[in-house]
Amino acid sequence: MKTAICPGSFDPITLGHLNIIERAAQIFDHVVVCVAANATKTHPMFTVEEKVEMVKLAIASIPNVSVEVNTGLLAEFARRYEGAVLIKGLRAASDFDYEFQMDSINKRLNPELETMFLTADQRYTFLSSSIVRELAHYGSDLHGLVPEEIIGPIEEKAKRR
Ligand code: PNS
Repeated sequence: MKTAICPGSFDPITLGHLNIIERAAQIFDHVVVCVAANATKTHPMFTVEEKVEMVKLAIASIPNVSVEVNTGLLAEFARRYEGAVLIKGLRAASDFDYEFQMDSINKRLNPELETMFLTADQRYTFLSSSIVRELAHYGSDLHGLVPEEIIGPIEEKAKRR
């Protein structure tokens, strides 16, 4: 069975992430959405549990996708799935610079680990979790940016902050 791992902070998951996950699920037997628990990004909006809950809501209708939490290095996490490849989405050339560096360090840590890149759908090239967090902070409409099912939870969280 060929497994793809879609890693990220998912703070929160966006429709751009979901589009990459759905496309990976068409190509691979199984997709593992890997939520990073110890990402170096300081001040996340959501707890890991909340991120996982939102990912679960977003992927509920895709049978070959599951979600896991990773507390360590991604290159080590990937060893759990024999022959797995990492899938990363690229929105622009600027994403590539960072991802090229990540691929190099991941290969150094786990030489068998390949990373494959899917270019972002045109609808989502501008979209990021940080944009969603900022819009949520200002109470702006999130339709078309994040899965419908998680708009309520994001709005609730933004109100409480
Ligand atoms: O959504 P993001 O923030 O771009 O995702 C980055 C992520 C979580 C994929 C990356 O930071 C990660 O894999 N972190 C786990 C620790 C790790 O393996 N770092 C790479 C070696 S320095």
